Amino acid sequence: MSDQLRLGVIGGTGAEGRGLALRFAIAGAAVTLGSREPARAREAAAHLRRQHPQAHIEGASHEDAIAQNDIVILAIPFVHAGPWVEAHGRALAAGALVVDVTVPVVFEGGRPRFVEPAEGSAAEHLRARLPEHVALACAFKTLPARMLQNADVALDCDEFVCGDSPASRQRLAALVERLPGLRPVDAGPLEAARILERMTLLAIMLNKRYKSHDARFRVLGV
Ligand SMILES: NC(=O)c1ccc[n+]([C@@H]2O[C@H](COP(=O)([O-])OP(=O)(O)OC[C@H]3O[C@@H](n4cnc5c(N)ncnc54)[C@H](OP(=O)(O)O)[C@@H]3O)[C@@H](O)[C@H]2O)c1
Repeated sequence: MSDQLRLGVIGGTGAEGRGLALRFAIAGAAVTLGSREPARAREAAAHLRRQHPQAHIEGASHEDAIAQNDIVILAIPFVHAGPWVEAHGRALAAGALVVDVTVPVVFEGGRPRFVEPAEGSAAEHLRARLPEHVALACAFKTLPARMLQNADVALDCDEFVCGDSPASRQRLAALVERLPGLRPVDAGPLEAARILERMTLLAIMLNKRYKSHDARFRVLGV
C-alpha cells in the first residue's frame, strides 16, 4: 500500500479549501476535494490539475472524501460547520483527525464582525459536537486563501497549531511542516483557538488598512 499522504478537504471548492488542497498536492499529497455537489468538486479539481499537472487532486462528495481519508480539513463557513459535524462526524473513521480552519467572522456590508461562539471558539464549538473517536486540531486559521492559491508565492510565516490532545497537535504540526515556508508553532490546547480566531480578524483589519491580502504572523523568540 502506498504511504503517500492522503487528505480530504471539505469545502474544497472554496477559496481556503482550494488553496490548502493545492499547496498540499504540490507538496506530494493525494487530495480529495469534498463538495455538497460532487460535479463542482470534480470541476475544481480538474481546474487545479490543468494549472499544476503534477498535482494529485480529485473531486468527490463529502461522504466519499470522508471515507477515503483519515485526515479531513474542514474549510466551510463557520455557521455551517457545527451542523456539518453533527451530520457527518459519526462517519469519520476511528482515529481520524479533523483539521479545523474555520473562523467565526461574518462580513456585513464589507465589514468583518466576530461572531462569539457560546463555547468560546469555533474549535471548541466543533469539539463539543464531534464524537469522541475523532480528534480535532486547528491550523491555517490565520493563513490567507489568496496567498495559498498563488502557489508561486512563498508562505514564509508561522502556523499556530492547537488541538484536543498533545497527539493531535503533533500530528497536525507534522502536516504543517510538509508545506514549504511554514513553521508550526504549538499554541497548546483548543482554548488557544479563542485567541487565534481573533488574530484572523486582526489580519483582515490589517489587510484593509495596508491595502494588502497577505497579512500573516511570525513569532520571534521561540
Ligand atoms: N478565505 C480566507 O482567507 C480564510 C482564511 C482562514 C480561514 N478561513 C476559513 O475557512 C473557511 C472557508 O472559507 P472560504 O473563504 O473558503 O469560504 P467560502 O469560499 O465561502 O466557502 C467554502 C465552501 O464551503 C462550502 N459550503 C458553503 N455552504 C455550505 C453549507 N451550508 N454546508 C456545507 N458546505 C458549505 C462551499 O462548497 P460547496 O458549495 O462546493 O459544497 C464553499 O465552496 C471559513 O470558515 C473561513 O473562516 C478562510
